[in-house]
Amino acid sequence: MKKLLHIIATPRGEESRTLAVTGAFLEAFRKGHPDWAVEEFDLSKEDLPSLTVKRVDGKYVLLSGKDLSGDLKAAWEEIVKHIERFLSADGYLISTPMWNFSVPYTLKHYIDVIIQPKYMFRYTATGAEGLVKGKKMVIVASRGGDYSSKETRAADFQEPYLRAIFGLVGITDISFVVAQPMDMGPDLQKQKIGEAQQAARLAAGKF
Ligand SMILES: Cc1cc2nc3c(=O)[nH]c(=O)nc-3n(C[C@H](O)[C@H](O)[C@H](O)COP(=O)(O)O)c2cc1C
Repeated sequence: MKKLLHIIATPRGEESRTLAVTGAFLEAFRKGHPDWAVEEFDLSKEDLPSLTVKRVDGKYVLLSGKDLSGDLKAAWEEIVKHIERFLSADGYLISTPMWNFSVPYTLKHYIDVIIQPKYMFRYTATGAEGLVKGKKMVIVASRGGDYSSKETRAADFQEPYLRAIFGLVGITDISFVVAQPMDMGPDLQKQKIGEAQQAARLAAGKF
């Protein structure tokens, strides 16, 4: 059985607009992909490891092409556990609101934990090479405002950031489903959630 890892970056549970859109994706995904299991990874319920000096030192050891040993290796156990869980999936779904023009700190923390040299990418003489190959990702995002116009697009650090960081590790087949604006009136919110749910069902069909 294949595995879709669903990474949840909103703490709002039942109240979440993002998850209302994700719900439509998952309903269609489960119908169309009976050979896939969905594993939930709710960042607001996780106690992610801090990037202590030892863990950061370990990153530089790996960047230099050496392996970890001794107390650095021990300090990295938690990090490796999260990387392995991420890599055990065959595809990814991220549910994230926009927070301060980017992603919530829980998702940034998770990214800081798992995006590691040797495991996810490596540097070659010609640049970085992603080591996560052939895996798809769908990102469901919601925003209070609307960042689709020429004037407002420059403040969207969410989509370009997520495309760049997962692109670094080799995940380039990324579909974005965006519900916006969510905080500019209840009628508009309802309409835009409905439109995003439709786009989410299509994304599930193409996955
Ligand atoms: C801490 C915080 C920061 C936010 N920052 C932004 C922002 O920069 N731009 C924006 O359009 N909406 C912002 N919002 C609004 C949310 O993106 C919006 O309400 C979203 O639909 C919430 O999704 P959720 O219900 O799934 O958590 C922010 C909300 C919170 C709680």
